[in-house]
Parts: sequence; C-alpha cells; structure tokens
Amino acid sequence: MAKWFNAGLIIATIAFASCNEKQHETSATIGTTKKEWGEVDGKQVYLYTLANKAGDVVTISNYGGTITSWVSPDKSGNKNSIIIGFDSLSSYRQDPPYFGALIGRYGNRIGKAQFTLNGTTYKLAANNGPNSLHGGIQGFDKVVWAAGVPDSAQPSLTLKYVSKDGEEGYPGNLDVTVVYTLTDDNGLKIEYTATTDKPTPVNLTNHSYFNLTGNVKNTILDHYLQIDADKYTPVDSTLIPTGELKEVKGTPFDFTTAKKIGQDFNSVPGGYDHNFVLNRKDASLQKVAALSDSVSGRTLEVYTTEPGLQFYTGNFLDGKFTNHDGNPLLIHTALCMETQHFPDSPNKPDFPSTILQPGQTYHSVTEYKLSVEK
Ligand code: BGC
Repeated sequence: MAKWFNAGLIIATIAFASCNEKQHETSATIGTTKKEWGEVDGKQVYLYTLANKAGDVVTISNYGGTITSWVSPDKSGNKNSIIIGFDSLSSYRQDPPYFGALIGRYGNRIGKAQFTLNGTTYKLAANNGPNSLHGGIQGFDKVVWAAGVPDSAQPSLTLKYVSKDGEEGYPGNLDVTVVYTLTDDNGLKIEYTATTDKPTPVNLTNHSYFNLTGNVKNTILDHYLQIDADKYTPVDSTLIPTGELKEVKGTPFDFTTAKKIGQDFNSVPGGYDHNFVLNRKDASLQKVAALSDSVSGRTLEVYTTEPGLQFYTGNFLDGKFTNHDGNPLLIHTALCMETQHFPDSPNKPDFPSTILQPGQTYHSVTEYKLSVEK
C-alpha cells in the first residue's frame, strides 16, 4: 500500500452541533479524521474532516473529491458553512449540479463535444446540449477517488484517480492527484497534479458553491466581488466562448474594483456564467479575486496559478436540492469561482493551451482564504 495511505491519521471524536434539522461537523479535534459514509459501485466512500487550530472545519468526501462543508464563525461567532452541500452521500447520488466536486478531465465546456488533436478527432460525451460539460456524463465528480491522509503538519487529504484511455472520449491514461490542505490561517488549498501517456486536454477545478452568509435564505446578490481581470471571454447562446477577449471596462463585467454582484445584474441576461481573463504576468500563485459579505463579516480571497476564473451565479439552481441549513437552493443563492483554463480551449488555438504531453506534469494550485471582521 502506498506510503501516503492513512499515514498520520488522527482518530478523534467529532463533536456535532445542531443546525436546524440537519447536522454536520462544526467542531473537531485538530487534524484529519474519517468516517464511513456509504458505498458507490461496491467501493467504500468516506467523509474526511479537516480541522485546524483556528477552529475551522472542512469536510471532504472521496466521492467526487467533494467538499461538502466549510464551517467557520461569522463576525458574531455563529458557526455555519460557507460552502453549500448535504450531509448524506445519497443526496450527492441524486446528481446535483457538481456541488463542491472536483471537475475533470476538462472543467467547463468543449464545443460540439469534440476536438481535433494531432490530426485525430475525438468525440466526447455531449451532456449539455451539443457540448460536453465538466468532463462528460461520468466526470471526476462522480467517481470514487482513492484517499489517504499525508504526513503533514496541517490537516490535509490526498486523493488519487486514474482516468482510463478513452474514458468519456478523452485520449490517454491520466493519473491525477489532488491534495487538499486546510492551513492554520484558514486557507483551503487545492493542489492538482496529473500525468498522461498520450497527449490530452486537462483542465481541473473545484466546483464549490459559496454563500458567505451561511444561510441560503439570502441570495448572493448583496455580496461584493472584486476580480482582477481586465477582460472576459464572451459566449454564444450555448455558452461556448466566441474566441474574443473583450475589455470589461464600461460593461457589467467590470469587477476590477469591488462591486455588489447585484449592481449590474439586470444587464446580464440569465446571470453571470462567464470566464474572466485574469491579469497576470506569469503562472505564480496570485490573488485574483475577493468576495465579501457584510451580514457575516466574512471575506473569501481566491489565489490561483490558473489564467481564468469562471464566475457563475447559480443561475440554474431551481429549488430541487436542500442545503445543510434546511433551506432550498433557489436561483442565485450561491455562487462559484472556478479557477481554470478557458472553456473550449482545445478548439481555440489562441487561448492558453490545455494540452498535456506525455513526460510533462500538469500542476495547478488554488487557495481560498477566509477571514472575518472582528
Ligand atoms: C458552468 C455553468 C453550469 C454549472 C453547472 C458552471 O461551471 O459555467 O454553465 O451550469 O457549472 O453547475
């Protein structure tokens, strides 16, 4: 068995606190603990609890690598989860739209569910109109990942998945590792690495939905957002980028200084669901966005090595699913900030390349950093 499996696992008693009728971990012994959470396709699924010195608690399942909750105190000391999600595996098996999950092999859409690489056209599963979305019918969000707890000073979890040559139409066996770490200063760091044995597109991300109030009775339209992007990628009617990199200046897409998400909302039909072209000189880990909310006093900063950020305002949430707090997830009650390469890059030669070659290592880091006004 690989060394990283279960090394340094701290067995601890997890305290539960009531949150309406539902329950989820709101405090735990510092470190990483796990409990059995059910089975999928005969494979054991676990729920891991990462708790840091500051008292934040993050729960992650090896089903889909899903972050199910991130509980932290608001400015009044009340604890609730800023990530929407559920307490049971069965809810995640009802196909919610990627709540908290790892996304792959390709985050966001590939137009007409196909691309041509080195003269060969690859047909992908079309699961979103004519396009392929978030890796296809069974993306990385719907598989059971091998999990282990690394020997680390901070609570962390390592997940591994081998995506077979031909899976969902993609070429090459892709070996993927994702490490989640909860830092002592309330950063949730996600580090992705991957290798392949054939050239293939790779674009990995996490699809957490945030509501900083921790209460989905509040929409996210009163949150303030700043995105360090002078340009975005406009899309066609099927949400595929046209290829243009458009200036945000003078448009509802200008988040270069913090503004209320609802401010220009009426000028964006359907709501925001767009890739922002981040201002960056190199691929170092850089602060690219900040989300804040005055009800909770919380601020969430986003750091990434990626060139793009998909800002999505939960436009397709329709009340079918119920959050931890017992409330239905209605339209615009949560938002995503998915760090990524641009959608449809395999068909857009002018976009930064997403093709991973054999012998290369895909490496991407994103950190969500949470703070609260005192
Ligand atoms: C996409 C949306 C899609 C959503 C699914 C986002 O990343 O940009 O168009 O509906 O994921 O949850």
